[in-house]
Amino acid sequence: MLMSSSKKLPLGILASGRGSNLQSILDASQSGQLDAQVAVVISDNIHAQALDRARKMGIPAVVCERSHFASKEAFEQSIVKELHRHHVELVCLAGFMRLIGKTLLTAYPHKILNIHPALLPAFPGLSAQSQALDYGVKVAGCTVHIVDDRVDHGPIILQSAVEVRDDDTVDALSARILEEEHRIYPQAIQLFAENRVRMEGRHIKLRSKGET
Ligand code: GRF
Repeated sequence: MLMSSSKKLPLGILASGRGSNLQSILDASQSGQLDAQVAVVISDNIHAQALDRARKMGIPAVVCERSHFASKEAFEQSIVKELHRHHVELVCLAGFMRLIGKTLLTAYPHKILNIHPALLPAFPGLSAQSQALDYGVKVAGCTVHIVDDRVDHGPIILQSAVEVRDDDTVDALSARILEEEHRIYPQAIQLFAENRVRMEGRHIKLRSKGET
């Protein structure tokens, strides 16, 4: 079913830090490029800049600190409660520095996205851009994928390649990759808003626009 233009897909964004990907989603939503709107931003870090970005745009910003909960399960349950309270249908990790566990995966099956600053399956995990430079690749990039129970592993929705320059530094390469992140994350979300994402195993097939 194609979403009617009046119904915007409600997003929940989980972010631990700077929140530039969150900003790109907020901007795309505000400018009407996205048939989705951020319903809530949740952070595990009370100092996350992402929280300020949300508040500035009048979007609920919630802190769920891991240390306030006895178990990972209880921590995730509190996140799920917030997501449900805000009627979230798609969850987007945007620099959320925690592994997603069973509680969240069960509450939002195949409805949690992540962006990773490498062309997966190359360089999963932390410091992907410096992993890529150290390895000596000529092409780096970023990936939007569905989250599963393994790190940076689930089905790939979109990728974008970025050329590595001979004189590249981690900062310079990261900045060029980030530009691509800000472009493809909203694009991937729009595919969900248009209900165009079909999963066959770990393969994502895109329905054409309007196809049911
Ligand atoms: C991005 O590089 C993203 O790919 C990775 O974490 C970083 C978050 O940056 N998962 P920001 O907080 O969105 O600015």
